[in-house]
Amino acid sequence: MKTIGVIGAGQMGAGIAQVSAAAGYRVLLSDVSLDRAEAGKAGIAKQLAKLVEKEKITAEARDATLAGIEPVEDAASMAPCDLVIEAATEREEIKRRIFGSVGLVLRDDAILASNTSSIPITRLAQASPDPARFMGVHFFNPVPVMGLIELIRGLATADETVQAVEAFGRSLGKEIVHANDAPGFIVNRVLMPMLNEACFALGEGVATIRDVDTACKLGLNHPMGPFTLADFIGLDTCLEITRVLFEGTGDPKFRPAPLLMKYVEAGWYGRKTGRGFYDYSGPEPVPTR
Ligand code: CAA
Repeated sequence: MKTIGVIGAGQMGAGIAQVSAAAGYRVLLSDVSLDRAEAGKAGIAKQLAKLVEKEKITAEARDATLAGIEPVEDAASMAPCDLVIEAATEREEIKRRIFGSVGLVLRDDAILASNTSSIPITRLAQASPDPARFMGVHFFNPVPVMGLIELIRGLATADETVQAVEAFGRSLGKEIVHANDAPGFIVNRVLMPMLNEACFALGEGVATIRDVDTACKLGLNHPMGPFTLADFIGLDTCLEITRVLFEGTGDPKFRPAPLLMKYVEAGWYGRKTGRGFYDYSGPEPVPTR
């Protein structure tokens, strides 16, 4: 594999483009417009500048990584790619539309993969040009820091597809785990019930936001407490994935916590809206309860 297409230049897509280019791949990066793709590349340049400042990488490595990333007009510009990774908004109709336009140009031997965190791979494969050359490749945020990729095969995914994407993931220096196409795969199956349970505990008055976070940080050695992490991921995303677990399994143990639903209804999505379980308007996050 030489050329990687990344569709979606937001946080996840930009991270995937950054680590791919840093590993020596040529990367074509697209979004809804060329401007958005270029803005994604500008964000990567900022991340790389920080790494140069901290002497984690050389100025030459930064320049080489940036030179490897080419913003392109749209998904239909992905004809030269060996592997196209879709990291667009987590909405099925958007992903389906993207697969349609990639399908017009994707080579017969190229692979299409989705970074979806919750949509069933077998179902998404139906909108791809060839379900045998389609699979899930789930990165974690922040992509340059997190050492894991979950690979999810759909019912029709070919062994060669899995092997090629696994080799690509390893070449980025990531550890690979394989998950079946079940709701939440591995990480979100385990993580979301914990975040959801923290919301139940808060709603029941077990403890404050700060104490739940401190308890999990120091008592479990997690880098972030559940409310800090939920705000980081986005409460809308957490609720969406919890709903997928609930509806996908039919098991009441996954029912979303009323407080989580309330925060989402209020538009308090976490860091991205400036308020979630913490208020981010000041110099330090302040718990809202
Ligand atoms: N891009 C690149 N590097 C970043 C970064 C970013 N966005 N954010 C932080 N870093 C780097 C920093 O530069 C720093 O590097 P050095 O140690 O080399 O200097 C390192 O990460 C630590 O960062 P900080 O000192 O700023 O802060 P921290 O120690 O609190 O770490 C964190 C920040 C890495 C995000 C850490 O808190 C963490 O690991 N949190 C948990 C993140 C997590 O669980 N992510 C998974 C979410 S679930 C998901 O993504 C899947 C899904 O489907 C929902």
